[in-house]
Amino acid sequence: MLRPLIAGNWKMNTNIHQGVELVIRLRELLKGVDAVEVLLAPPFTSIYHLSHLVADSPIRLCGQNLFWEKSGAFTGEISGDMLKTAGCDYVIIGHSERREYFKESDETVNKKVVAAIRDGLKPIICVGETLEEREKGKSISKVKLQVKKALAGLPGGALRDITLAYEPIWAIGTGKTASPEEAEEVHNALRELLFEMFDTDSLKNTRIIYGGSVKADNIDSLMSQPNIDGALVGGASLKAEDFARIVKFLPR
Ligand code: 13P
Repeated sequence: MLRPLIAGNWKMNTNIHQGVELVIRLRELLKGVDAVEVLLAPPFTSIYHLSHLVADSPIRLCGQNLFWEKSGAFTGEISGDMLKTAGCDYVIIGHSERREYFKESDETVNKKVVAAIRDGLKPIICVGETLEEREKGKSISKVKLQVKKALAGLPGGALRDITLAYEPIWAIGTGKTASPEEAEEVHNALRELLFEMFDTDSLKNTRIIYGGSVKADNIDSLMSQPNIDGALVGGASLKAEDFARIVKFLPR
């Protein structure tokens, strides 16, 4: 069984100076933490610099996106190899903001997942439903389809390096979080789906984490659910004290 994973997605926030300040503070606050795997996903421009600052700390780095080609004439894009050699171990793929604003589809998410694994990065695949879909009772069917398409064609062995992030779109940046029971219901359905798609052995290391208005005051109850293996934190990861408290959630 893997350790829980708490990841901070900084989105398009923090210049280099602000990123350095935040990491220096977090290094202090997270000294000695080893029961939890801690990840930060800063903007691309800060990754290499921060990689030196986190070297002797529990913090590891994560890209916010990548492109599936290895190299070439793709102005503005970043490859898996570029992320890996800049200091990332993980990469977020298919965040709802990318799906909405940059028209990413389940098919491009799948290509990115395949490319990430090829390039030695661990994908964190984001799925989630809109408020309308939730109100129509379609949450579970929507996220199951997203996961099926994201993992299409992958061998069971690839699951070892994959994390699923359930991020209901209506809970992102809104202050409205799914209740622990609502999140657990979806996580449980995703776990069952993985068991249908792959053999038990390849699933031992697959984490399903929750994102959407995770804060210092709701992390303990979310983490008390059996199928919630960690959190993907947006806004609260930009404040060192809040993020450190989330990392130090009270264990089940
Ligand atoms: P918030 O924590 O700000 O709701 O963002 C969640 C998220 O999108 C993490 O990827």
